[in-house]
Amino acid sequence: MLSKKVEKALNAQILLEAESSHYYLSMASWAESEGYNGTAEFLYTHSDEERIHMIKLVRFINERGGKALIPSIKEPASKFKSLTEVFSIILKHEELVTSEINKVVDICLSEKDYTTHNFMQWYVAEQLEEEALAKTNVDKLKLMGGDKGALYLFDRDLSAAAKAKPNEKQ
Ligand code: FEO
Repeated sequence: MLSKKVEKALNAQILLEAESSHYYLSMASWAESEGYNGTAEFLYTHSDEERIHMIKLVRFINERGGKALIPSIKEPASKFKSLTEVFSIILKHEELVTSEINKVVDICLSEKDYTTHNFMQWYVAEQLEEEALAKTNVDKLKLMGGDKGALYLFDRDLSAAAKAKPNEKQ
């Protein structure tokens, strides 16, 4: 059985994952409308993954005798200046998600809830991967400095990355 404190922390994490999914969906739509089709594909896939992160939490809370709350989500930004801005926002957002996940882990330890602590380790590992990927993309875009040929290749590579990473994370 979940303690009220752990249940509250996990429900807060549901909101954050839902917001992430929504945010990346908005970015995917922007990229598609700007002709960055590879980036759009990558971001649509990323948005789907965030939804899976959210659903994992919903089901875990309910299975452990708590009550998962499905929150409303505020409208995300829909206009971006450049791909560099998009990926810089993603990096900052993922850093925020990591710090919130670390707080949930802290609460699990203080509540001596080792089952939820164990469950959260999947998120800890996932964040490591997501932050590293976002940072790589920001670094690449900074190096390109807006060069159109390089941006074309970056966009094409992201399309390949999206195809190579099916939504396996159930
Ligand atoms: Fe599920 Fe990117 O945090």
